[in-house]
Amino acid sequence: MSYLEIDSLHTHFTKRSANPFSSKTETIRAVDGVSLTVQKGEILGLVGESGCGKSTLSRTVMQLVRPTSGSITLDGCNLTDLPVSQIRRRRLDFQMIFQDPYASLNPRMTVFATLAEAIKQRHPKSRGSALSQRVAELMETVGLDPRLQRKYPHEFSGGQRQRIAIARALAPEPKLVIADEPVSALDVSIQSQILNLLKKLRADLDLTMIFISHDLGVVRYLADRIVVMYEGKIVEEGEAEALFRNPQNDYTKKLLAAIPSLAESH
Ligand SMILES: Nc1ncnc2c1ncn2[C@@H]1O[C@H](COP(=O)(O)OP(=O)(O)O)[C@@H](O)[C@H]1O
Ligand SMILES: [Mg+2]
Repeated sequence: MSYLEIDSLHTHFTKRSANPFSSKTETIRAVDGVSLTVQKGEILGLVGESGCGKSTLSRTVMQLVRPTSGSITLDGCNLTDLPVSQIRRRRLDFQMIFQDPYASLNPRMTVFATLAEAIKQRHPKSRGSALSQRVAELMETVGLDPRLQRKYPHEFSGGQRQRIAIARALAPEPKLVIADEPVSALDVSIQSQILNLLKKLRADLDLTMIFISHDLGVVRYLADRIVVMYEGKIVEEGEAEALFRNPQNDYTKKLLAAIPSLAESH
């Protein structure tokens, strides 16, 4: 059995008609029958154009949205069977890194407060020097100087803020990290630094990760395996290099053609 198994997952939304006098509703099949697996220690790249359902898929895996049907099993535990009362604690096993670290970090919390809070989610009794030491360790892990722990998010650059967000994601010792377009808002030079950091963390910490991007070039740099999503469905799946060398699906070929040449320089 794989570490993460997603089986025939559907997440549909019901949308009211744009016409206020109509009672008609429309079903949006954001995730429309997705099955995939992730092995422990693997980085799965999930790629597809905006609106194809990538974020909805990750939100469903996190149990932030309940699926319409299908199942999600992590490390042998079927999450779709869990009672609501247990979901909160289970959610610690999944941590997300988002596109915009400025929006996802609390502007009123120092780096120390942010990381301490995230550590305490897993270890509520952690305090004192053990807590400080763990905060410093996490900062070092993501390449930040621990002496900056009393600073606030606005005192950092965009790349540094994303490092803080990554440290926060690691703090509760997740089983799976989902990075949803984590470098899309960053300058190109900073993008490669963050991608290198994720690559290093994966090697050092044996991270299991779903890395989401609309940019196949970025995904290629990091992913062992790539899944291509289109209109809520998986249209192609394969080992990263094989998929690049010999794409089968027309949509994958289109995505490949759209990669800016800078992707080669990562
Ligand atoms: N909460 C929601 N309610 C209704 N429709 C939604 C909701 N979330 C996403 N959608 C729709 O689902 C589709 C997939 O969106 P999303 O998962 O955000 O795609 P992506 O992350 O690939 O850009 C889009 O058509 C979007 O408008
Ligand atoms: Mg998205």
